[in-house]
Amino acid sequence: MSLLQEERKIILSNEFVDAFDFAEVSDFVKNASKELFISHHFKKNKNKKMLVQPRGGFPTYEKQHALYEFFLKANVDVLPLTVDSNTRLNDYATAQKMLRLSEENNIDMLNGYPLVTHGYRTTRKMITHFDKPVSLRHGTPDARLLIETAIASGIFEIEGGPITYLLPYSKNFPLDKAFLYWKYVERVCANYSELNEPINRESFGPLTATMVPPSITIVIQLLEMLLSLEEGVKSFSVSFAQQGSMMQDIVTGAVLKKLARHYAEEIGCGDADIHLVYHQWMGAFPMNRDFADQLINMSTVIASMVGADKIITKTCEEAVGIPTKEANAKTVANTQYTLRILNGLPPVVDEEEEEILTLEVKAIMEAVFNDPADTLWRKVFNCIKSGIIDVPFSPHIINHNEMITLRDAQKNIRIIKRGNVPMPDRCYEFHKSKCDLSKDTTSIVNDIIHDIGIMQ
Ligand code: 5AD
Repeated sequence: MSLLQEERKIILSNEFVDAFDFAEVSDFVKNASKELFISHHFKKNKNKKMLVQPRGGFPTYEKQHALYEFFLKANVDVLPLTVDSNTRLNDYATAQKMLRLSEENNIDMLNGYPLVTHGYRTTRKMITHFDKPVSLRHGTPDARLLIETAIASGIFEIEGGPITYLLPYSKNFPLDKAFLYWKYVERVCANYSELNEPINRESFGPLTATMVPPSITIVIQLLEMLLSLEEGVKSFSVSFAQQGSMMQDIVTGAVLKKLARHYAEEIGCGDADIHLVYHQWMGAFPMNRDFADQLINMSTVIASMVGADKIITKTCEEAVGIPTKEANAKTVANTQYTLRILNGLPPVVDEEEEEILTLEVKAIMEAVFNDPADTLWRKVFNCIKSGIIDVPFSPHIINHNEMITLRDAQKNIRIIKRGNVPMPDRCYEFHKSKCDLSKDTTSIVNDIIHDIGIMQ
C-alpha cells in the first residue's frame, strides 16, 4: 500500500466518519455526471460566458437544500458549499453538537454547513439531485478529512491552499504542517482526476483583502498553482479580488494570466487548464444596501473588463452578517443580468504598469526559486519566514509585516516600504513616485487606517 493510501486510511478512520468505502467512492467519481465538474463547464464555456458563483452554507440539510433551490431559480452557474468554522478548525465534536441544536430548535448555531458531520452519503444525495457543479469554500489549514468527504459527496472544486488559507486566517497554525496537509489534498485531487473529468483546485487570491499589492497576490497565486500542478492537478484557478482601482485590476488580471501560463510551462505542466477567478469587493462593505448593490454591480463590470472565467459574488447584506437566501439569490440574478447586457467592452491596456508589475513578480519568483532548499514547498516556506514574501495585515506570527502600502490618487495600491521583499529598485521608485510622500508620518498612518472604509 502506498504511503498516501496508508495516511488516507488513518484520516478516514476518524470517529466522526461513518465507514468510508474507498472502492464505492472511486466508483461514484468514475461514473459521476459531467455536469458536476466545473472543469467540464470551463472547457465547454471557453471565452463565452463568465460563470457566476455565490457563497453559502447553513447548518441543516433542509436549509442548504432550500438555499440551492433559490440559487437555481436565480440562474446560478456554480453552487457553493461554505463550511462552518468548527469544521474548519477540525473541531468535529462541537460541529456535531451545534448541528443537533440547530435541528432541534430551528435556529442556526453554525455559520456554515458542517460537511464532515453530515457525511458524504447524505450530502451526495443533495449534490446529485441538483446536478450542478459545487465549489467547496472553507479556510481550513488541515483540510484532509474535509476534502475526502467533499469529493465523496460529488463536490469537484476545492478552494484554498497552504498559504492563502493560512496567512489571512490563522495566528499560529504551523506553516510547515499546512504545506504537508495541502500536499495530501493535491495528491488526492490529482488521483481522482484520472477517473473522470479533472477535479478543479482554486487558490484564494483575496488574502487579507486589505491593501495587498498586486505583486504579492500574484506571486502567491503562482506558487500555490505550481505546488498543485507538481502533484498532478490538471485544472487550476488563480484568483484575486477587486482592489479599488479598475486600472490596477485590469493590469493584475493581464499579468496573472500571462505569468500563470508561463510558469506552468516552465515546470512542464503546460497541459493543465488554468482559469481566472475574480472576487467582488472583499473589504468592508457599506451598511447602506443600495450602495452595496452599486458596489456589487461595479465589481461585475470590472470582472468583465478583466476577462474572468468565474466571478464570486457578494450580497447587499454583507455589512450585517450571513446573508438570507433571498438576498443571496438576488445578487446572483442581478450579476447574471449585468453580464447579459454588458456588450462590446473596449480592451484596455496599460503597458507601463504591466511591465513594472511583471518585473516585480519575476524578481520575487526568482528569489523563491534561488532559495537553497530542495523542494518548492520548503523554498516557499523559507521565503515567508524571511519576509521575501510579506502579506500586509496578516495576523500570522510567521509573517513579517514589514511591507507598507498606500493608495495613490487613482486608488492604486503602491508599495512605499518594501521590507525584505526583493522588489527591483526601478519598480520601487515607480511606486513611490505615484504617492505624496511629503506628508507627515501621522497623516500617512491615518490614510492607511482609514483605507479600510474606502467603500463606505
Ligand atoms: N453563507 C453565505 N456567505 C457566507 N460567507 C461566510 N460564511 C457564509 C455563509 N455561511 C461570506 C461572507 C463573506 C465571505 C468571505 O463569505 O459574507 O462575504
